[in-house]
This record gives sequence, structure tokens and C-alpha cells, in this order.
Amino acid sequence: MKKVLKALSLMLVMMLFAALLSACNKSTGGSGKGSIDVGIVLPTKDEPRWVQDEQRFKDALKDSDYTTEILFSQGSSAKEKENVETLINKGIKVLIICPQDGDAAAAAVEAAKKEDITVISYDRLITNTDAVDYYVTFDSVAVGAAQGQYLIDHAKGKNVPLYLYAGAASDNNAFLFFQGAWSVLQPKIADGTFKIANSSEAEALKDTAELSRDQLSKILGQVTTNWDPNEAKNKAQTHLTAAGADLKGDVAVLAPNDGTARSIADVFASDGDISSYVITGQDAEKASIQYIIDGKQSMTVFKDVRTLVKDAMGMAVEILDGKTPETTGSYNNGKVDIKAKQTDVIVVNKDNVKKELIDSGYYEASEFKGIE
Ligand code: BGC
Repeated sequence: MKKVLKALSLMLVMMLFAALLSACNKSTGGSGKGSIDVGIVLPTKDEPRWVQDEQRFKDALKDSDYTTEILFSQGSSAKEKENVETLINKGIKVLIICPQDGDAAAAAVEAAKKEDITVISYDRLITNTDAVDYYVTFDSVAVGAAQGQYLIDHAKGKNVPLYLYAGAASDNNAFLFFQGAWSVLQPKIADGTFKIANSSEAEALKDTAELSRDQLSKILGQVTTNWDPNEAKNKAQTHLTAAGADLKGDVAVLAPNDGTARSIADVFASDGDISSYVITGQDAEKASIQYIIDGKQSMTVFKDVRTLVKDAMGMAVEILDGKTPETTGSYNNGKVDIKAKQTDVIVVNKDNVKKELIDSGYYEASEFKGIE
């Protein structure tokens, strides 16, 4: 009997202890539940584009009543998932996430959805999952179309060699950019204004006005830069080494963004058989603005990150306040239609760089050399 009593009281003490411990855990501050309202996950610090987004988020959040935390995934989907889990444990109610890899990020947002967190896909769409509530983005098809149109507007004569480059196939935007560019370039390839210089896959599809996802994949597989300036440089070198005289002279280059445009431009500039090149870009990165002023990059597509941040945070605050955010359209992510808010873009070259980027207060004139 004594033994039974002893065992029972021991059990009681243990139960009490366990109850106390869990109460303690719940009230822990700092990293405990309930400390952060909005979690923000960005792909990498290695590209100026995303460091800029971080800064613009910080500027916008200065006077916010809500608490936020920004984490970077450093190009790794595993790190991205870990970041999302960290934020879930901090009690976030809204997750704003720009995926490193659109498909791979599905698992991370599905984990968030299980905790009733509202998921906003930011700039890049998270694909093939129904665990995304909203998408805040620039008009990426328009970005590609603007790049293609710039090459058309600046092409001299016929049979202009056209070098095609694309973003990473793990990024849905890379498809949208190329699709937009192709929509305007294809008729000009068909009518002999351009001849494709570096892609047998694009060459084989030159009479196809609208490319399917599979057809786009084939071209991207050949001309992807993986968003990596080094890979872009190596590819451009390989292409120019293989190109005969008929593919040199005055050429046009579709470069998907500023980081890759600068390194591709450097390769073209150092080839004695290239007399001139027109090259596109996007992001209005400071280094590319200097390249444009110096005549080394032809244009960029300016995507005002302040607007994207304002839209994403505006949406998050409405959700936190129990309201339904306004959207302007939708995007299919391969599984479901996601309600989206979309922002326009602006083409910038030497002629309007001052008006669009300095006079608008986006950058300071003192950050550049030779701007009037
Ligand atoms: C973004 C671009 C960026 C690229 C590489 C795209 O998803 O929309 O602005 O240059 O990724 O990071």
C-alpha cells in the first residue's frame, strides 16, 4: 500500500512539474509565439535587387504598428524552409515570401498554411500548390515585352544577329519575361529583321508565335543564365567564340536583368568583331544606371520597389485588420488561380534616366558620375 501511495505521489509531482514547464514555455517572450506579426523571406543577399527590397521594406516599416522580421534564404530552398519555420514559431500571422525556387517553396508555404498563416507570394510566384493566398508583383510579361521592343526600335537594317539570354528556370518570372520578349520579337525574326545567333531551340521555334511552357523550357534550358552574372559571362564568351563573321557586327542582345546584362555587355564590348551592341536589362540597379550613363548598357526596366513593398505591406496590414485586400487580377500557378495585385514598369535609357530615377527621388544624383 505504502509503495502504491509513494508511486502515486511521485506521479502527481511529475504531472505538476510538466504542467508548470509548459506554462513557462508559453509565456516566454522574444522567440516565443506571438512576438512577430509579419514574416518576410527574401531569396538572397548576393544580388543588389533583393538587398534593395530589404532596404525599401525597412524604410516602409519605420512607423508601422506591427512587428516584422526579414530573413534571407541565400539561394537555398532548405534555408528558406528553415526561415519559414523560424517565423512560424515566432507566431507570424502573415508571410510575405519571394521564393528562391518556385516549386520547391511549396513545402514551406504549406507548413505556414497549416498554422492558418496568410501567404503572400512576393515578386516571384510560388508554383504548383494551393497554399498561396495572394500574389504581389510587377507586370513581368510587360518587362519582357519592353526589352524586346527596345531591341526592335534600335535595330538597324535586316538580319541583325540576335543573342538571347534568360533567367533561371526555377523562377516562374524567367518564363514570363521570355514569353513577353518573344511575343514582340518573334514576328521580327519571322520577317528577317533579326536572325537568332545562339539558340538552336529558339531557331527551331521561330515560326511559333505563342510558346507553350514546354517550348519555353527548351529555350531556357539552352540560354539560361541562372540569374548568375558569371554563368552569363561564360555563356556569352562561348557564344562569341563559336559565332562566325555573319553573327558579329552590329548586334542585339536580350539580357534578362541588370546583373547578367553588365557581364554579357563586358564580353561583347571586348570582342573586336562586334562593332556595336544594343543590350537590355531590368531592375535599375545602381551599377547599371552608371553603365547606361556611360553607354555600356542600352536600357533597363525600372521596377519601383517602393510600390511593391507598399502593396505587399498594405495587403498584410489589411489581413491583420481582418479586411479583404483588393486585387487587380489573377495568375495561375499550375494548380490554382492566385489573386494578384500588379504594378506597371518603366523603360529607362540615357534620355530619361534623370527624370525617372533622380527627379523621382529614387536615387541621389551624387551616387553617379556624369549625370546632368
Ligand atoms: C526578379 C528580377 C531579378 C531576378 C533575379 C526575378 O524574379 O523579378 O527583378 O532581377 O529575379 O534575381
